[in-house]
Amino acid sequence: MTPEEVRQLNARYAAEPAEKLCAWTLERYGQRVALASSFGAEDVALIDILSKSAPGLRVFTLDTGRLNEETYEVMDRVRRRYGLVIETYFPETARVEALEREKGYYSFRQSVEARKECCGIRKVEPLRRALSGLEAWMTGLRREQAVTRTALELIEIDASNGGILKINPLAGWTHDQLWAYIRANAVPYNRLHDAGYPSIGCSPCTRAVAPGEDVRAGRWWWENPEHKECGLHLSPKAPKKAGGA
Ligand code: ADX
Ligand code: SF4
Repeated sequence: MTPEEVRQLNARYAAEPAEKLCAWTLERYGQRVALASSFGAEDVALIDILSKSAPGLRVFTLDTGRLNEETYEVMDRVRRRYGLVIETYFPETARVEALEREKGYYSFRQSVEARKECCGIRKVEPLRRALSGLEAWMTGLRREQAVTRTALELIEIDASNGGILKINPLAGWTHDQLWAYIRANAVPYNRLHDAGYPSIGCSPCTRAVAPGEDVRAGRWWWENPEHKECGLHLSPKAPKKAGGA
């Protein structure tokens, strides 16, 4: 798709409900598109919307080996509720073995670079494999989530992943809109959300936040906000910072 076509699509779907863009995506790409899901609130809402739009939704998850027990629980509930086959991608065994042998089990606490090395092995490389052969992927990214995401578009050409289309149907959704959808449709969600976790990643890199704290304050809480991307989502518009994502 050309940049001009993408611009036109963004203009067309800007004022439409997310359901419309989801339906367009599934109709156009079918089995050549998949939703990347960590089974956070955005992703389960999207699974609900997409499952209602068409059968045969493809969903993949990057199982880093360091996820919370609660995440596996919601994955199983979602799998049963929607009759989904979740495509799981693990990191390469030899790379995790080498990382743990050489640097221990908490190397990601030592520096931004060490953290990105772990994310690179456990998330980014498996993502590359998950995306190979796809023409488009969908995510639950929202602009409101982070300073690194304010320029997010509904539809983007993903230059970091071979120029395939990246579709973020909930880009413009607010936190309240998201939770209103989840409650109105009784969507199963990760019970850590009820324990003060607005954003959920790997267990050792996620903690609960205090009321009023930023929604991503509990992700890699020892780092500055502008560093808090793991490499899954590199914005073409975000300025590159020294040591940044
Ligand atoms: S992260 O880059 O900081 O980890 P975040 O947790 O906000 O991302 O999730 C944003 C989107 O990235 C999710 O809605 C989902 O589409 C995708 N994503 C994040 N983590 C995973 C994962 N482990 N497996 C599959 N998709 C993921
Ligand atoms: Fe490693 Fe933490 Fe990144 Fe998970 S979030 S891949 S444990 S650094």
